[in-house]
Amino acid sequence: LLLLFLTALLAYLLGSIPFGIVMARLFGLGDLRAIGSGNIGATNVLRTGNKPAAFLTLLGDSGKGALAVLIARALVGESGAGVAALFAMLGHLYPVFLNFKGGKGVATFLGTLLALSWPVGLLACATWLLVAVLTRYSSLSALIAALAAPVFAFFLYHPHGALLILILTAFIFFKHRSNIARLRAGTEPKIGKK
Ligand code: G3P
Repeated sequence: LLLLFLTALLAYLLGSIPFGIVMARLFGLGDLRAIGSGNIGATNVLRTGNKPAAFLTLLGDSGKGALAVLIARALVGESGAGVAALFAMLGHLYPVFLNFKGGKGVATFLGTLLALSWPVGLLACATWLLVAVLTRYSSLSALIAALAAPVFAFFLYHPHGALLILILTAFIFFKHRSNIARLRAGTEPKIGKK
């Protein structure tokens, strides 16, 4: 039980690392929270026009979720992996390093999915990409991929895993409240646009 607690804590701390803020600082892009949507994710880094910084943010934010799951699986097994996925997401959404004001969790979600079950992760990424190509809305792509992921997990991973992923989906929807309002109003900016 102590080991499970420690892996959850590690997952939370890993999840708390805001790669968008780190990359914006490394690349000298200024304060990400004053740009575009003000979010700390790769989509908003892309609004600065710096593609490498956006790509590295995507890689870092998804990689930390995957890493947390893989470490937990090695130490505690499959139930530990699920707990780590949840805590890595909580870290990104409510990071201790940013006064608990974090991101929207899309990259971290996809990273944890890939580590929990790579077929589920790949299908979720493919769903994101398909909607992004068709609509050019990052947020809409994330919302649809997040809705599809628990269904993929139910059939290809585990019913309990699907339930856990459904909880993550609820967090993603909650964090996209302003995007959902903009999508409905037709004012959501398309990928790469300010
Ligand atoms: O990855 C988050 C994305 O779905 C929305 O980001 O910056 O457009 O609010 P943003």
